Formats: sequence, structure tokens, C-alpha cells
Amino acid sequence: MTDQITIRRPDDWHVHLRDGDMLNAVVHHTACQFARAIVMPNLTPPVISVDAALAYRDRIVAALPAGTDFTPLMVCYLTDDADPMEIARGYAQGVFAACKLYPAHATTNSAHGVTDIRRLSSLLDTMQQIGMPLLIHGEVTDRDVDIFDREAVFIDRILTPLVRDYPALKIVLEHITTAEAVDFVEASGPLIGATITPQHVIINRNAIFDGGIRPHAYCLPVAKREQHRLAVRKAAVSGSPKFFLGTDSAPHAIGRKESACGCAGIFNAPFALESYLQVFEEEGALANFEGFASEHGPNFYGLRLNDGTVTLSREDVVVPDALTEGGISLVPFHAGETLRWRLVD
Ligand code: DOR
Ligand code: ZN
Repeated sequence: MTDQITIRRPDDWHVHLRDGDMLNAVVHHTACQFARAIVMPNLTPPVISVDAALAYRDRIVAALPAGTDFTPLMVCYLTDDADPMEIARGYAQGVFAACKLYPAHATTNSAHGVTDIRRLSSLLDTMQQIGMPLLIHGEVTDRDVDIFDREAVFIDRILTPLVRDYPALKIVLEHITTAEAVDFVEASGPLIGATITPQHVIINRNAIFDGGIRPHAYCLPVAKREQHRLAVRKAAVSGSPKFFLGTDSAPHAIGRKESACGCAGIFNAPFALESYLQVFEEEGALANFEGFASEHGPNFYGLRLNDGTVTLSREDVVVPDALTEGGISLVPFHAGETLRWRLVD
């Protein structure tokens, strides 16, 4: 049995680091596991300009523990009025790594998101020309579409025509949750990839209602039926370069989760690698872990692979029921469970 596993330093291709006190409370968890992270721009107000991204990047760097080697990769939040010139300038200057499409009202802080993708046609032309990735929260928001169908309907109504109309556009379908998403990504060309979270390969929708309502298992896109978890899990461990690690760690203070109208988001940053590694081991796919965690993402984005390594060792780790930092209490994914790997170096 393998007792230690060493891989090239990994990256997180989708994380919410927040701002202010919450940023201070959470950023070290991501920075001690990953060399780089694609940082979601759904702040209040959202990150829509080069200056805002530079200022946010500075706040992230200032919040890092001294001596940490971590690079935040910034993302531009798209609104109906997104400015192609500003975005192209941010990409050319190495400030923006990608743009994020939130359909308006799809999730947390998406009120300024895009109401109709046709409003972005000139921006999408520009992005296609300059090779800038479009990161998509792939859910329709129509109230008449069942919440468990929103990803599959998005693929039919929005993504399929988008890929047809912009065949040279690099697209990441973020946090995929369905067999339909896996099939779509697999059937598409090399410019279409997807991130996969730990929760969507570990829980199905029963977890949200296990003996009572479980707010800490609620995120968006919401976990689906078991058949979908299995399809996404198979894709994650398959070794396909189209699928890569993106935790979607999305912290909300405990009181905002345990509420009559609790926020969507699972805080998985503290044990993200341990959580994924357990899945690869259960699937007999340890050999594919490094590709998923450390190679497929940078190769898709056209960035260099990281130098250095991380090592995980086979040891039981009890995940705390809650973590309190700077006066903020957060419930981590796997709270109260024992994981079988520990990040040691
Ligand atoms: O569960 C989620 N939480 N999904 C998202 O898309 C946004 C995120 C957040 O920002 O809290
Ligand atoms: Zn997210």
C-alpha cells in the first residue's frame, strides 16, 4: 500500500477568497495547499475593472502569512456592459487570467451578472481572438426550470449554441455536477474543459436532507442524484486533460449558513487535497491524481507547471466541527469526519 504520495505543487482553478475579515480568515488555507488559484470576482461590488482587480490582488497578497509562496490569478466579473477594451488590456497586462460569466441571479453576488449572453457578442469575439478563457457558472435561472435541471438546461440552451458560434473560444464549465456536463465536455474539442469540486464527487443530493436539513452541504450548483455524482467522479479520476481541480471553496460565516435562508457555498479549503486524494484512492486512480491537481489546469490555461512538490502521508485526520479565525466561525466540509491523508509538506 502506498503510504506517501508526492506530486508537483497543485493549483486551485476556482476559489472564493472573499475580502476583509473573511479573506484574512481563509486565505492561508488555500495558500498552504496550492501554488496558484483562480480567484472568483463575486465581491460586493464585483471586480469588473483592471484597477479593481489590482487592488484586490494587493489585498490578497497582504493577507498572506509572511513568506508564503502563493500567486492569486485574477478574474473579471462580466456584466451586461462589460468593456472589451478594458478586459483585453487587463489580459495583455497579465492582470486578468480569465473572465467569469455568472448568469444574473444564479448564485451569491450575481445580481450584476449577465442577463443575456447575446449582449456580450463583441467581447466574446475579442476573447476568442486573444485566447482569453471564459469561465462559466453553467445554470439557467428561469424560475420554471427545476433547480436540479438547471445545469443540463444551460448546456442545451446556452452552452451548445455558444460553442457553435465561437468555435475558437476557450471555455471552462465550472464545478460540473451532472452526467450531461461530463458528456458535453468529453464530446467537445480541446478548448472546452471543466473544473470539479470535492463535494460533487463525494456527496449526492441526499446529503442535503440527511436526517434534517443540512445547510453545510448546500452549494450551487446543488449536488445531484447519485448517478451524476458517479459520472463526475469517473471524469475526475479518468486522466482526461479536460478535467481539473477547482475546489469552489465558498466560505460563509456559520450564522449565514445556519439560517432560514442560508447562503450557498461549501468551505472545503482546509482539507481540499486530502479530500480529493481520498477519492482518487477509492477509485484506484492514484496515478492520475497529479495530472488532475497539478497539470491539466495549467496546460489548459497555457501557463507553466509549478516547480516544487507537495507530499501527503497516510494518516488519519479528524476534521474539526468548526474553525474560528479572527472571530469568524466556519464549518468546513467533512466536519467531524476522519480523513485518511494528511498534507505533510
Ligand atoms: O455555492 C456557491 N457559492 N456557488 C457559487 O456559485 C457561489 C458561491 C459563493 O460565492 O458563495
Ligand atoms: Zn464558485
